[in-house]
Amino acid sequence: MSAPLELDGKRVLLGLTGGIACYKSAELVRLLTKAGAEVQVVMSEAAQEFITAVTMQALSGRPVVTSAWDDREPNNMAHINLTRGTDAIVIAPASADCIARLAQGRADDLLSLLCLARPWTAGEARCPLLVAPAMNREMWAHPATQRNVAQIVADGAVLLGPGHGDQACGEIGDGRMLEPAELLDDLIAFFQPKLLLGRTVLVTAGPTFEAIDPVRGITNLSSGKMGFAIARAAREAGAEVTLVAGPVDLPTPRGVRRIDVRSARQMHDAVLPLASGHDVFVATAAVADWRPATLAEHKIKKDGKKLAPTFELTENPDILAAVAALPLRPYCVGFAAESEQLLVHARAKLERKGIPLIVGNLGPATFGRDDNALLLVDAQTHRELPEGGGTADKLSLARLLVREIALRIVPHSV
Ligand code: C5P
Repeated sequence: MSAPLELDGKRVLLGLTGGIACYKSAELVRLLTKAGAEVQVVMSEAAQEFITAVTMQALSGRPVVTSAWDDREPNNMAHINLTRGTDAIVIAPASADCIARLAQGRADDLLSLLCLARPWTAGEARCPLLVAPAMNREMWAHPATQRNVAQIVADGAVLLGPGHGDQACGEIGDGRMLEPAELLDDLIAFFQPKLLLGRTVLVTAGPTFEAIDPVRGITNLSSGKMGFAIARAAREAGAEVTLVAGPVDLPTPRGVRRIDVRSARQMHDAVLPLASGHDVFVATAAVADWRPATLAEHKIKKDGKKLAPTFELTENPDILAAVAALPLRPYCVGFAAESEQLLVHARAKLERKGIPLIVGNLGPATFGRDDNALLLVDAQTHRELPEGGGTADKLSLARLLVREIALRIVPHSV
């Protein structure tokens, strides 16, 4: 099953103001439209010095609006028409001048004018404004810019970035526009309900690797995708998220703190001191149950006698059970990867580990794959995700699971 279009049906107004980062906005339009959004581009005069309206029209599939006096609008009110029925305004890049204008509530160019004219209900913007600053680091650090940024945030704008790093001017510092893929992820996250706002979530993910000698080890086929999706979904829901990851090749979800480990014991030692400081612990990692009792100092060589080496194994610590036994324990969610009789095994595991919620899935059907089917089991009930059976992509499932967790830790939150 392919991932759903994350911004399907969303109408996004993308504003460009003057800055070299305008070249990245071309890629941003592509990503937004690929994610299913309808994108209406509005460009300031300065933005047109950096990239043409022709490019942005070709990529968005709609005429770009550049002037408040655009007489293609039958009522000649571009600033009103453009903000009604729009799900979000994203200004990327937002220049220092643009932010100053927004802070002052200016109305002498189309973009500031339409931001001023966007609809509000009871103090809340029905058409939210997301601003991605892009400027030289000195301009960003200037007290005037910082004052203006604080003002627009106080007025309800959401700040995306800026990033840190090399700047087109050759200097290095804060003020870079976020990359298009980062802006896309932030916009997708913006639309998710903030069910875990102010909460802290600790997630383990991936396999562990138990060394036999300096070059070999015991591991398993877990890809870490489910755990990474849960970390992302929890972050999108407003939580502060720490992800303790075994050896996997996956990018860290935006805004998530990641700690890389290799063995079960390292994972245990990373998790245990952190666990009590978190509200929720989700153990998705496929932790190796055993490790070689001794680690060979050098690579084990064939001895020419065709005798295979034998290993003694010793049990690894059960991280989830250890967290569940803490006097100050987070709400613990376990995973059970089984090959049959999911409900029976999952419920037995729930009791054995002393945890309130376990998520069953079929190991061979999930390891390494992008989609999955979950069976949520608590003391009284069980329920399939997605509802009614079948499979769904792991991020969609992770969002459903986050919702279930939020329901259990903050009743009435959903
Ligand atoms: O004991 P079993 O491996 O069947 O249980 C699976 C659940 O326990 C998963 O949530 C897994 O992350 C967790 N686990 C753990 N430490 C272990 C083994 C499993 O945290 N050593």
